[in-house]
Amino acid sequence: MQTDQLSHFPVMVNEVVSCLEPKKEKIYLDCTFGQGGYSRKILESAECKVCAIDRDISSYKYAKTLSQKFNARFTFSNTKFSDLHFFLHKKNIKAIDGMVLDLGVSNTQLNDPHRGFSFNNNGPLDMRMDKINTKLTAETIINEYDEKELSDIFFYYGEERNSRKIANSIVEFRKKKKIDSTKMLSDIIQKINKYKFKHPATRVFQALRIVINEELNELEEALKISLEILTKNARIVIVCFHSLEDKIIKNFFKKNSYKNVHDDKKNFFRIITKKPITPSPEEIKINPRSKSAKLRVAEKI
Ligand SMILES: C[S@@+](CC[C@H](N)C(=O)[O-])C[C@H]1O[C@@H](n2cnc3c(N)ncnc32)[C@H](O)[C@@H]1O
Repeated sequence: MQTDQLSHFPVMVNEVVSCLEPKKEKIYLDCTFGQGGYSRKILESAECKVCAIDRDISSYKYAKTLSQKFNARFTFSNTKFSDLHFFLHKKNIKAIDGMVLDLGVSNTQLNDPHRGFSFNNNGPLDMRMDKINTKLTAETIINEYDEKELSDIFFYYGEERNSRKIANSIVEFRKKKKIDSTKMLSDIIQKINKYKFKHPATRVFQALRIVINEELNELEEALKISLEILTKNARIVIVCFHSLEDKIIKNFFKKNSYKNVHDDKKNFFRIITKKPITPSPEEIKINPRSKSAKLRVAEKI
């Protein structure tokens, strides 16, 4: 499967791989395999190895193509950031020469109506990246959480200004009828929100997705592990798409940077990107979804 046959266009792939600086015989971790755009590019750039993970089992089919092409240089496992310790221990991997993360959902997930991630396609209110191990769905939150819980979720994880009004409309609506589709939810929100440049349901859908998949905790876990497993001079390269994630990454790098750590025994980073790298106008034109992407890099000292 070539990159041009994939429905997910890997965001800033050239920038990511050039920041990672893959080298012969080294081993890299792709924590968000998706359709494998980053893994493929890393493997093509140097005679190295890539260990890839993704919590979504639908990645297996794309991983199979890379396994056939790169044989033992590539391995894939269906696991999540917070289980990385266990995964690396099982594989007897003690150190990694670089890692990449491309946060959020892929176009494959977003464009599949059955996954319920998108307000553009009608489908069940699901939004789980890992349908086997995650029990909580958007339908449960929307129909069972109380008004204050809903409003807090929309406000804290979606930075939604109309969080209270939207929560109230949901609670009033569900007294009459269960809300069980992305269209029903999106219609309720559209009666309240009138955004000029964004779909009115963008922030609420983002908030639900973050909560269901515990995305911020997962990110924190991945960052913590990076400090322990990266070798000297190894880089962590992260692409994120919203300010909540960006704040966590920026603060983590800062807190663990050489300047701020005064304990010689501790692991620390050198921040490579003082300001985040953003996609070129050409990339945004081809792939408008890349517009909000921010790339940050740190190097283990
Ligand atoms: C934006 S896509 C990555 C696309 C990939 N770079 C490519 O080129 O195809 C994000 C992927 O990360 C996965 N993911 C998100 N959070 C994860 C986590 N905590 N653990 C493992 N995989 C995760 C999602 O299932 C999704 O497939």
